[in-house]
Amino acid sequence: MAFSSKPNGLTRREFLKGSGAAAAAAAVAPATVSAAAEQSSALVRDWEEITLRVNGQECKVRVEPRTTLLEVLRYQLGLTGAKPVSPDGCCGASTVLLDGKPVSAATTLALDCVDKEITTVEGLGPGDPVVHAFVEEDAMQCGFCTPGFVVAVRAFLQKHPHATEEQIRQGLNGNLCRCGTYVNVIRAALKVVKGEHHG
Ligand code: FES
Repeated sequence: MAFSSKPNGLTRREFLKGSGAAAAAAAVAPATVSAAAEQSSALVRDWEEITLRVNGQECKVRVEPRTTLLEVLRYQLGLTGAKPVSPDGCCGASTVLLDGKPVSAATTLALDCVDKEITTVEGLGPGDPVVHAFVEEDAMQCGFCTPGFVVAVRAFLQKHPHATEEQIRQGLNGNLCRCGTYVNVIRAALKVVKGEHHG
């Protein structure tokens, strides 16, 4: 087989000229990128003070656009019930209620919570039937996942007060427990449904 001395129809000289042009373009690219970055940073707002309503109290906090609700709760308000486990919120440990609906505080921006009612596990209080049932059924081992589970159970039973065991299992499938206390968690939830909890 004969090889062409002009691969792709280019002479060696033409090829080198083209490569030089590409290298020159690459050298220009960083400047273009930094111009774009400068332009976009002008669009990003700086720190600002906002007011959040947490567990019935107005709280002034300082946030950046990227600040999550979980960061505000834990590091500015000292509410450490919601846990930072998975940044994508897939384990349910950071579950809180936003206008009564369960959300992952780890993936919710603080700025999106203005004018909404935020309830954390601390806001449920010791008198909450779900909290009682968890204690009575010993629905925890290390306890790390427990606040997320308590809030998730509270939200689920609020919406499905007569839930069956199967429905509770499905409703809580967004919460993970590394210690494997699922059996007791389900038992605690069923206890609330049946009104058998004390307190
Ligand atoms: S009790 Fe340990 S992770 Fe659930």
